[in-house]
Amino acid sequence: MKKFFTKQKAEEKRSFFLEDELLDYIMSNSAPADQVQEALIEETAELGWVARMQISVDQGNFLTMLVKAIGPKFAVEIGTFTGFSSISIARGLPENGSLLCCDVSEKWTAIARKYWERAGLNDRIELVLAPALETLDNLPKDTEIDFAFIDADKGNYKNYYEAVLSRLSSHGMIVIDNVLWSGRVIDETVDDEDTHAIKDFNSHVRNDDRVTCTMLSIGDGVSLIQKK
Ligand SMILES: C[S@@+](CC[C@H](N)C(=O)[O-])C[C@H]1O[C@@H](n2cnc3c(N)ncnc32)[C@H](O)[C@@H]1O
Repeated sequence: MKKFFTKQKAEEKRSFFLEDELLDYIMSNSAPADQVQEALIEETAELGWVARMQISVDQGNFLTMLVKAIGPKFAVEIGTFTGFSSISIARGLPENGSLLCCDVSEKWTAIARKYWERAGLNDRIELVLAPALETLDNLPKDTEIDFAFIDADKGNYKNYYEAVLSRLSSHGMIVIDNVLWSGRVIDETVDDEDTHAIKDFNSHVRNDDRVTCTMLSIGDGVSLIQKK
């Protein structure tokens, strides 16, 4: 059986929702990580526990396919970390497409920059190091977002969603990560800020007449949102 994750990642990146055997089956029947992704996973694992913030290989493939299908001219990522999801998004962009990455960590995004270079994606990615709400607010008023991936501080999910939705093009899509939060969203005994923020956010979207939402159990739970 092919090994998909490093030793450390094997503990951290197993699906919360699927048995290991079934996950292995899914992974062995899907596109494997390439050399750039493998190296990035290894380098990120060296950072310790924070490495679990990185999206999984299957999520990355999924993002690339979604982006390819949508063909966004302008995509936004909120929460870049060491770059795995941004590489996945940028790889799906059309020739004239670009990705704006928002993060606040110079240290983590320095790793991302290195791997953008290695993946030959530098020309289509711009990184802004600032709180993402500021970055979104500073976009020219007529900017249309065709694709957005939201994967940063959970307490701001609703704000990020509203800021992106107000600029989302009619065919655009918002993808939200961690919407199942390792199953804590249905555990009534869990009482922490992030879990409440995610539950609030999920119900905000559910009650939002402007959009339709499909929630998937890939990774840590992903919502796909489009305008009606
Ligand atoms: C879960 S990680 C993103 C993981 C990334 N999508 C990946 O697949 O590797 C969250 C990131 O959000 C960033 N972040 C936290 N608060 C932020 C804020 N207010 N504005 C922008 N980025 C923020 C953190 O620095 C961190 O890199």
